[in-house]
Parts: sequence; structure tokens; C-alpha cells
Amino acid sequence: MFFNLPQEYREASAGELRERITTARRKLDRKLVILAHHYQRIEVVEFGDHIGDSYALSKIAAAQEEAEIIVFCGVHFMAEAADILTAGHQRVFLPNPLAGCPMADMAEMADVMEAWEYLQPFGGADKIMPVSYMNTAARLKAFTGKNGGLICTSSNAVGALKYALDRREKVFFFPDENLGYNTGLKMGFGPEDMVVWDFTRDRGGLTEEQLERARIVLWKGHCHVHTNFTAEHVAEVRAKHPDVQVIVHPECKAEVVSIADGAGSTKYIVDYCEKAPAGSKIAIGTEINLINRMAHLHPDKTIFELSGLTCPVCANMYRTTLNDLAHCLENYESMKPIQVPEPIRSDALLSLERMLEVQ
Ligand code: 13P
Ligand code: SF4
Repeated sequence: MFFNLPQEYREASAGELRERITTARRKLDRKLVILAHHYQRIEVVEFGDHIGDSYALSKIAAAQEEAEIIVFCGVHFMAEAADILTAGHQRVFLPNPLAGCPMADMAEMADVMEAWEYLQPFGGADKIMPVSYMNTAARLKAFTGKNGGLICTSSNAVGALKYALDRREKVFFFPDENLGYNTGLKMGFGPEDMVVWDFTRDRGGLTEEQLERARIVLWKGHCHVHTNFTAEHVAEVRAKHPDVQVIVHPECKAEVVSIADGAGSTKYIVDYCEKAPAGSKIAIGTEINLINRMAHLHPDKTIFELSGLTCPVCANMYRTTLNDLAHCLENYESMKPIQVPEPIRSDALLSLERMLEVQ
């Protein structure tokens, strides 16, 4: 749970940590902004100056003018995006530097470059636009920007794919095959228009004919938190609660998304819970800390986790504790900021700026 936190932070009580965080915030005042992703622990979210999904937080990071210290309670790729979008004198810190995203790690640059080389006879950058999910390392964002592509999040995936397919014949979508596939279906593409590039197989495991025909080539990556939900979970929850609404994140498999009552980004899920009338029963297929917080914020509605069996926790989001936050705020001067070096930063910025233009 803890990385190498000094003992005083490991052993401090929650009350003491809260006091220390409050004092440090007061001292740093407008020099500091704390960004907290919706999947963070509830006690960490309480200290967020801004709480949001990855799209909203990157917009908020980009809009910071006064803050010199941006503490990002989230995972590594989010802090990298914030660093890319902020000015040189602004430093971004990840309170627990071990918080990564296993899905982002599924698209290694060596594998991506091998696939891209192979795709050159199919049109390369003239005909194929890379579109990368926010959940990617800065290097893949840079590759995307350099090749005319853009970043998307679950909030603007349709807009991003439309942007790409208005300009080029094909999209190469990294790294979440489920988000890409679900978005393709939503836009009216059929299963025959989409293929999955399996980086563990020779030539992606695809024939030339499949690649010629495909409009969307999906990288074979997934989120282990969201792919745990099944169509059986949906059937079971409906059998038990006939009046339930099933709402899921588009990182879930298509068999789940296609039968849910609603599917959308983290923001969509948050808004759905807020707008639902009192007395609503909502089963949600996404990360458990968000679901628990929605249940806590809306006691007049019955909000619960879809499977009833698994605990869909993102262990990486969960890594950041109050202990880490207190340590970061009191010791940021000796911590290493998240810094994306040039030229990766400038190329990645191109892809993020294109993202911010697309709704
Ligand atoms: P959002 O883009 O909805 O914030 O989601 C990020 C993420 O990691 C979802 O698993
Ligand atoms: Fe990555 Fe999944 Fe965690 Fe999101 S929930 S940060 S995609 S592992």
C-alpha cells in the first residue's frame, strides 16, 4: 500500500494527517492545486480542489494560471498529461509514484512501432490515423501527435473517431479494444468493420484482407477492472431488482454495454446518478470507489455495484492514501515531479490539443 514513506507518515492517525494536509494547503494557498480523479478513495477526494474524470481534469490542469504546484491524485498517465498541458514553471506531482495503469502498459512502444511498420503498405499515416485513449504513456501520445492523430477519453470517443474518419480512411485505436469497439458500434460500424491487432501474434494475428477491409483497427488492450462485468451479472441483477437501471462504463465488454440501460464515461455515470429521481435503483458497472461515493452522496437513491460478487477496485487508484498526500504536500521540494522530456512533450501536446478541440 505504501511506497517508501517515512515512518512518521506511515504511522500518523487519520486525524493527524488531515490536520497536516489542511495546514500545508493553507500555507501553499494559491500556489497549490489538488486534482482528484473520481476513482480515488473518498478521504482523498475530500481534499480535491477539483474532482473529475480524466478529460475534465486535463482541461482543468491546462487552465491553471496561478498554481505552481499541481498535485494529481490519480494515476501516472494522468499526471503526465497534466505536465504536458501546463507551463514549464508548473510542477506536477503524483503523491504515490507507483500508481500506474495496467491498461496503459499494454501498449509498449516497441510493439506499437512494429505494428505501424507493418501497416505502411496499407497506407501508413496518409490513410490511417492513430487515435489513443488518454490511458497511454506520453510516448504513445507523442507518436499519435506526430502522425496527425489525437487523444480521446471515454467522454469524447465518438467525436475523436469521427474527427479521424473524416480525415483518413482508417483508425488505429490504442490501447482499449473495448472502448474502441463499443464506440465503433455506437457510430454505426458493424463487427466486420473492426479488427483487433493482437500484439502477441505475428502480424497482429490478422490477414491482409482483414486489414484492407477494416475501418477501425483496435489494439488488444483492456481494463481488468471493467472487463470483469458479464452479461450474466446484468441478467441476475434484473431478475432480483426488476425496477433497476443498469449503467456501465464503455471499457466493459460489448456484450455488457449492448444490454445495459446506459453506457458512458465517468462523467456520464456521475451525472446519471445526480439526475436520477429520488427512489431510483441504479446498478453500476465501474470502479467501486466511484460507486460507493455516488451511493454516499445520494442517500435518497439505491446505488450499488452491478456484479454483487466481485469488488471492482482499481488497485492503482487506491494506492494514493492520505498518508501519501500529507507526505507530498510537506515534501514536494524533495520529490521528483512528473516531467515529460522534449521532444516527446511537444509531440504529445499536439495530440492533446486536438483532443481538447473535440467534444
Ligand atoms: P475516465 O476517462 O472516465 O476518467 O476514466 C479513466 C479510467 O481510467 C477509467 O478506467
Ligand atoms: Fe487503468 Fe482500469 Fe484503473 Fe482505469 S480502472 S486506471 S483503465 S486499471
